[in-house]
Amino acid sequence: MKLFGDGRIALRDDPRMAERLDWGQRRRSLPDPEAILVPRDGDPRCEPWVCPPWFDPSAGVEALRRRQRGGAWTYLATPSGVERELHAMASPRPAGGWSVGVIGLGRVGGVAATTLASLPVRQSGVRELVLFDVDAANLERWRLELGSIGLWRGRGALPSVRVASPETMFAECDAVLFVATQTVPPLGVQGEVRLVQLAPNRAILRTCLDHAVVAGFGGLFLVVSDPVDWLAQAAFVDSNTDARGGFTGAGLPPERIAGLGLGVMWARALAAARAAGCETRVRARGAAFGPHSVDVIAFDDLVDADPELSAAMTESARRCNYHVRSQGFLPYVGPGVSSVGLTLPRLLAGREAPAAAFLDGIFFGAPTRLDWGAHPTPHRLGSAVWPAVADLHARLRRQAPDLGLAPGLLAF
Ligand SMILES: NC(=O)c1ccc[n+]([C@@H]2O[C@H](COP(=O)([O-])OP(=O)(O)OC[C@H]3O[C@@H](n4cnc5c(N)ncnc54)[C@H](O)[C@@H]3O)[C@@H](O)[C@H]2O)c1
Repeated sequence: MKLFGDGRIALRDDPRMAERLDWGQRRRSLPDPEAILVPRDGDPRCEPWVCPPWFDPSAGVEALRRRQRGGAWTYLATPSGVERELHAMASPRPAGGWSVGVIGLGRVGGVAATTLASLPVRQSGVRELVLFDVDAANLERWRLELGSIGLWRGRGALPSVRVASPETMFAECDAVLFVATQTVPPLGVQGEVRLVQLAPNRAILRTCLDHAVVAGFGGLFLVVSDPVDWLAQAAFVDSNTDARGGFTGAGLPPERIAGLGLGVMWARALAAARAAGCETRVRARGAAFGPHSVDVIAFDDLVDADPELSAAMTESARRCNYHVRSQGFLPYVGPGVSSVGLTLPRLLAGREAPAAAFLDGIFFGAPTRLDWGAHPTPHRLGSAVWPAVADLHARLRRQAPDLGLAPGLLAF
């Protein structure tokens, strides 16, 4: 067995990829690598490029309920972007916590940044917040506001706060949150308020992706703006598509992109469980699946779901934002806190959290864990849960081509 690479990770018996990376044979004097990776075959348009041993990339949607046993860390050698990814993976871990960029400091971005700025570094894992907003006065306002959050004595530290251009952010941050939007549909608008944001927000996203590619960004790209799951998909598709519409594989790896919108859906579902007097049980056994939209589904128990309670939780997750709107306000506190402030620290710590990760060609909301990349975590799913979850995934997958977001259709 030959190992290549002197960093945190090593490749096993793949001299060709080692040559592409300019990695020599691993020196014997070095400590054991944190992960040993082997190449695998697969379609980089539909599967994660780098996979931890517990996630089976060939299982499709079955990965939601099937844990791979005895596997190895694997990678796809075909996309050129995997070279940047392997270099990033081999680099030292962020020292002292993560540097997190926030693009877009509106209502949601402001509340999200406030929550993260109020959590001690040892709790959140975030050592600094790096801010950017296209509106200079708003940016300065948030630099001052977040800079006005401070602790009284004690040894714990809060994240530091600084401003940077998107170019600098992608060159220096370990993770970037995309929370910018052109406009949120105003109060009084009936019907869909998220999917209508796809085209304008995708245009803003594209300029960010250009910066990411120029900077050789190897960090995590986290989409908070609506429509969360489809914009996460757009981050993958658009950064990996050339001018003629072909798949390049030179952009962001799908597992280094995630959507953060399921956190608030779960919190809204949990409100129904709380009202029914069973929050503790539901928090331990239930979950939400699917997009940050009216298609989300929630269950009180993944193995033995109570149909009535699950329906009430689903309804609560789907309707709560409309109830807030009907009171004359846009919902943004629950979203900023639950989807980002409470979710990101768990994800960064490698703990399971509600988020959308790449699964069989689309970004799909599910209990998710960051193990280098973001992957849905397998769970035992009962007879009332599995068909509904698999159906929803299939429906969203069928919708992707209509939105111009089916990576599997790109020529490769
Ligand atoms: N993920 C969730 O849980 C969740 C929940 C609710 C809303 N949202 C979505 O979050 C997004 C933000 O909502 P909001 O209420 O904060 O909107 P907002 O209008 O209050 O803020 C948007 C911010 O983006 C900035 N911006 C616009 N173009 C930019 C660019 N090119 N670069 C940098 N910044 C730019 C604006 O200056 C503004 O500060 C929306 O898409 C909204 O639908 C997400």
